[in-house]
Amino acid sequence: MSEQEKNITFAYWVPNVSGGLVVSNIEQRTDWSYEYNVRLAQTAEKNGFDYALTQIRFTAGYGADNQHESVSFSHGLLAKTERLKVIAAILPGPWKPALAAKQLATIDHLSGGRIAVNVVSGWFRGEFYAIGEEWPEHDQRYVRSEEFIRALKGVWTQDQFSLDGKYYQFKDYTLKPKPLQKPHIEIFQGGSSRAARDMASRVSDWYFTNGNTPEEIKKQIDDIREKAKANNHSVKIGVNAFIIARDTEQEAQAVLQEIIDKANIQAVHAFGDATREAGASSIEGEGNWAKSTFEDLVQYNDGFKTNLIGTPQQIAERIVELKSVGVDLILSGFLHFIEEVEYFGQKILPLVRQLEAQQQVVIAAKSA
Ligand SMILES: Cc1cc2nc3c(=O)[nH]c(=O)nc-3n(C[C@H](O)[C@H](O)[C@H](O)COP(=O)(O)O)c2cc1C
Repeated sequence: MSEQEKNITFAYWVPNVSGGLVVSNIEQRTDWSYEYNVRLAQTAEKNGFDYALTQIRFTAGYGADNQHESVSFSHGLLAKTERLKVIAAILPGPWKPALAAKQLATIDHLSGGRIAVNVVSGWFRGEFYAIGEEWPEHDQRYVRSEEFIRALKGVWTQDQFSLDGKYYQFKDYTLKPKPLQKPHIEIFQGGSSRAARDMASRVSDWYFTNGNTPEEIKKQIDDIREKAKANNHSVKIGVNAFIIARDTEQEAQAVLQEIIDKANIQAVHAFGDATREAGASSIEGEGNWAKSTFEDLVQYNDGFKTNLIGTPQQIAERIVELKSVGVDLILSGFLHFIEEVEYFGQKILPLVRQLEAQQQVVIAAKSA
């Protein structure tokens, strides 16, 4: 089956940090508690979501003062759901690959093969300093992450695994039991910089990037896939989007405006300073937030830029457009998570599937 014939996949950001997914004082009927998140996960798996992504934070960034730890929270959600896959985020530095591989293999058994991992390379120097972790410069963080991913894959798939890396060493290590998922637990990564893309084109199963226009996302995808092909590797692409779906476009735009008007200005500026340092510190200056405006940063992964803001029909059409440039997954955030995830499942998803079916008829007719 070609990529175009597969249905696009949906994931949502788990609000396991306080303050929701926007840095704004607007009312949000979203909560970071475990109880709320269990209800949300159960609602999401009934409304067409295949993945949930938890976040890893050790200290407050962008006003997110409280943060539940990602791996244990992911496990908690898996225990209360039936088919949702939960992606736990891990930072090389605080985590070592042997521990991560063991911990995730066990969760894979406990959850019937539903854990995945997002290896994040880090953007927040203040956080690393606060917990006494080294802060290698930007591209070195990716050298370390790539070794981390190679170690995970090696430990999960081989017996007597050895690695003589710059950051990690293994000697004849055999993990037992291996994970349930074959060939191994799915590995996601985040970032947009040259180093992030190159790592994706060599080792990751999935590349997550910040929100952007279809044109800009296409440039990244073409670049990554061309390199991946040369490396005999294949990588799927997930794009962040903050979805504001309302019955009319005016209502949706009014919500966007209110989020921006009520932005927590101090927290957005502090976040902007930290991200500028993270983005600018890559050699080519093309990091995740290198071109973000104040308004973009109110959603902390540029989710407004993807423009899934409007009526269900407009949003469905834009999702299918993203699919046509090579996107495999939409990673979504919402203002009032539970109620909007339900609205998504009832009003948007059926339209997306309809449009995809129409496209498939066209593809089939062309190849007949
Ligand atoms: C979808 C997505 C999710 C991410 N989740 C986290 C996270 O939970 N914790 C974290 O510290 N960084 C997270 N990151 C940050 C990235 O791993 C990376 O450090 C950052 O995007 C800088 O990338 P750059 O190489 O483009 O500068 C995430 C990034 C993306 C795109």
